[in-house]
Amino acid sequence: TDVARSEFVRGRRVFIRADLNVPLDSQGRIAEDTRILASLPCIRMALEAGAAVMVSSHLGRPKEGTFEPKDSLAPVARRLGELLGCDVPLVSGWLDGVDVNAGQVVLLENCRINVGEKSNDLELSRQMAQLCDVYVNDAFGTAHRAEATTYGIAEFAPIACVGPLLASEVEAITRALTAPKRPLVAIVAGSKVSTKLSILRSLASRVDRLIVGGGIANTFMLAAGLPIGKSLAEPTMVEEALAVMDTMRVRGAEVPIPVDVVTARSFAADATATVKPAADVAPDDLILDIGPITATQWAAQLGQAGSIVWNGPVGVFEFPAFENGTRTLARAIAASSAFSIAGGGDTLAAIARYGIASDLGYICTGGGAFLEMLEGRTLPALEALERRGV
Ligand code: 3PG
Repeated sequence: TDVARSEFVRGRRVFIRADLNVPLDSQGRIAEDTRILASLPCIRMALEAGAAVMVSSHLGRPKEGTFEPKDSLAPVARRLGELLGCDVPLVSGWLDGVDVNAGQVVLLENCRINVGEKSNDLELSRQMAQLCDVYVNDAFGTAHRAEATTYGIAEFAPIACVGPLLASEVEAITRALTAPKRPLVAIVAGSKVSTKLSILRSLASRVDRLIVGGGIANTFMLAAGLPIGKSLAEPTMVEEALAVMDTMRVRGAEVPIPVDVVTARSFAADATATVKPAADVAPDDLILDIGPITATQWAAQLGQAGSIVWNGPVGVFEFPAFENGTRTLARAIAASSAFSIAGGGDTLAAIARYGIASDLGYICTGGGAFLEMLEGRTLPALEALERRGV
């Protein structure tokens, strides 16, 4: 970070890997620009220090070696230009050299079009490193990927350093998980226990309360012997859910199970919502939210938390009839004096919907990277920088 800021970069070529992988709507317009906003401090820092700035990012998951208009970072270049108040040219075919002067910024077209990006190809990494004097990794959202722009280039660039966003995200998550103010409450929601099992296991040995939501919660309800009707769940993961609950119980910690739920007969915005005790779920029911008694109880528990880690909505909050649980918990997190950290695409959408961004301790720009940190794994991008002594 200091290198990027310092006089040292005046007149030098600085390659900033940012995560500008933003959602686009059906017209190709930017639906949500949090990641672009979050990347500005680093870009401004380098520009103000007089560097020739090249910003690189991926967008989506294009097939390497091909290019379709939907893969283009053109909307991002326009938005960056508006935010920075200057022209931000989009450079295609940049591997052969980039024309940029000191005090200027260009955006390099989608790095995942380059063959070898995903596989962290050595030659590609070397070629990209030759474009710059200083490589700055500021892409927290992609820090869990060992790709040429997030990993390989760090080895070959003359100087490699960490950007301010990447540094602050890692610091905030580490702070929430290492010696946190207790009670530490984690909310982990998602459709499958299997995809989040290692996170659940890892949190089970650290948190004081583990609130689960979505299909994960349904599997835990099954494990607790409750009926779940036709709800999304993984019966094969019941043993794993029981093991997580046991780990928590032995530590005097808890995975709370809903006492009431909101059900419907179909997964639709206009489906009739019925509140019922969790024990009364019928064979035809789909559980689409936690019930109001559960929401109030859990909100009270969040109010007493010392730290909160939030990943995932507890109900189908996109449908107004099934948003009460997520909204109640979101507001409780916002009102709580706990240090709260939230991350993940759906979570960011819920935060935006309830307008609580400014009431949270830290909002993470990463989804997968956030989850891997919760799991206690070392992010490859950090490992690459560490190998350079950063
Ligand atoms: C994300 O959106 O989580 C990051 O930009 C990483 O994208 P990826 O999952 O396609 O690597």
